[in-house]
This record gives sequence, C-alpha cells and structure tokens, in this order.
Amino acid sequence: MQAPGPQGRHPGWPAKLGPLRVKAGVVAVRGPRLFDASAWSRIRLRDREHLERWEPSAPGSWDDRNSTLAWPGQWSSLRALARRGMTLPFVITVDDQVAGQVTVGNVIRGSLCSAWIGYWVASHLVGGGVAPAAVALVVDHCFTQAGLHRIEATVRPENTASLRVLEKLAFRQEGLFKRYLDVAGDWRDHLCLAITTEDVPDGLVHRLVSDGRAAIPQ
Ligand SMILES: CC(C)(COP(=O)(O)OP(=O)(O)OC[C@H]1O[C@@H](n2cnc3c(N)ncnc32)[C@H](O)[C@@H]1OP(=O)(O)O)[C@@H](O)C(=O)NCCC(=O)NCCS
Repeated sequence: MQAPGPQGRHPGWPAKLGPLRVKAGVVAVRGPRLFDASAWSRIRLRDREHLERWEPSAPGSWDDRNSTLAWPGQWSSLRALARRGMTLPFVITVDDQVAGQVTVGNVIRGSLCSAWIGYWVASHLVGGGVAPAAVALVVDHCFTQAGLHRIEATVRPENTASLRVLEKLAFRQEGLFKRYLDVAGDWRDHLCLAITTEDVPDGLVHRLVSDGRAAIPQ
C-alpha cells in the first residue's frame, strides 16, 4: 500500500465530483460531513425495507445503527480510513440534498491497484438515474486522480436494479462467489462484476452522456 503523502493525503482524496444532470435532478458526490447526520438518518430509517435486504449484516438494531447518533462514529471511521488511503467514501447529493452514498473500499495499491465499490440511493429517487451517474463520477475519478486500475462490485443475483446499474456502466460479469457475504442474516451468493481502465478509455461519464442517460449542466 502506498505511504501517506503530506498531511496524510492520498491520490484522489479528498474530492468533490460532478455535477451531472439525470432524470431525478443534478447529481454530485462529495466527502461525508458531520452535519449530514439528520438527512442521512432520516432517509435510512424511512428506507429500511428498501435497503436492509441488500446490505451486509451488522450488530445492533437497524434503528440504532441508523440513528443520528450513529452517524458521527461512521463519519469519523470513514474519514480515518480515507486519510489512510484505504477507502474513498462519498455522499451522493441530488439538487444539493443528501440522496445516498457511494463507497470505494479495500483500496489496494502496488501491482493490484484495485478496490470494491458499493452504493445506495434513497427510495424516492430510484429509477431516476442517480446511481449510474454517481458511480460513473466515482469510477472515472478512481481511474484518473486516484490511480486505480480495477473496480469490482459484488451483487446478489436477485438484485436486478443494481445489476442494471452496472450493465449501463459496462461492468462485466466475472463469476459467482458462493455464500460470499452475510447479508440480511445469511451467507448469500454474489455475482462478481468488474471494470478496468482499458474498458473505458474515454470514461464512464462520457459513456452515460453519449448514451443520453446524463448531461453535463452548462
Ligand atoms: C440499486 C440502486 C442503487 C439503483 O439506483 P437508481 O438510482 O435507482 O438506478 P437507476 O435509475 O439506473 O435504476 C436502475 C434500475 O432500477 C429499476 N427501477 C426503476 N424504478 C424502480 C422502482 N421504482 N423501484 C425499484 N426498482 C426500480 C429499473 O430496472 C432500473 O433500470 P432501467 O433504468 O433500465 O429501468 C437502488 O435501487 C438502491 O439503492 N437499492 C437498494 C440498495 C442496493 O441494492 N445497493 C446495491 C447493492 S449491490
């Protein structure tokens, strides 16, 4: 892993990316902030049914883990990992309002230069093209400023909406991981999808714009 640079900064961090206009509004991504607590918690408590069945199991009740009081701990551990170059955690905004998260985790450098990506979007915005736009902004950033070569996503085969996001972004299926991750209380199979820099020489934002799925606001 690459040693921290001056002030503990790493390639590609911190960063603010976008904007991109999609059906749901104007999408941007930025680092998490302490004062995101109430917006983040409001969405997460309301959207339990939408989110819980796709997210890794964790100790404690959903309400405790997603209360406003839980955010400062999450925020500070994300920030600490980001400062050590192990993760790039982003909050998605739509029209400047908190709308979800994209997280790049397990950043490995050296001869791998790889990481995983995960994401969620508030239920009132689904189907509006928010996740493809946010993931495109973040993957392009990973492949340029952050100096990564490969980004991997693991998705339950039942999660057709998430698979559709990755299909729009030209991720390729590489295989099936059996009983890979503890999600919603059991070990679940996950499809492994990935993309490398060679797949998108012009970037994913360019692809979305060319396909008419997003526009760069003037
Ligand atoms: C998966 C998810 C991130 C997609 O985000 P999004 O911003 O809605 O993405 P898109 O707008 O591209 O929609 C993707 C697909 O969702 C489906 N979809 C559309 N409207 C929907 C709705 N109201 N309800 C459920 N699914 C819907 C469609 O199949 C759509 O594909 P299409 O555009 O070809 O019709 C979002 O549904 C979500 O946060 N799900 C819960 C968390 C999760 O699954 N995270 C990923 C774990 S791997």
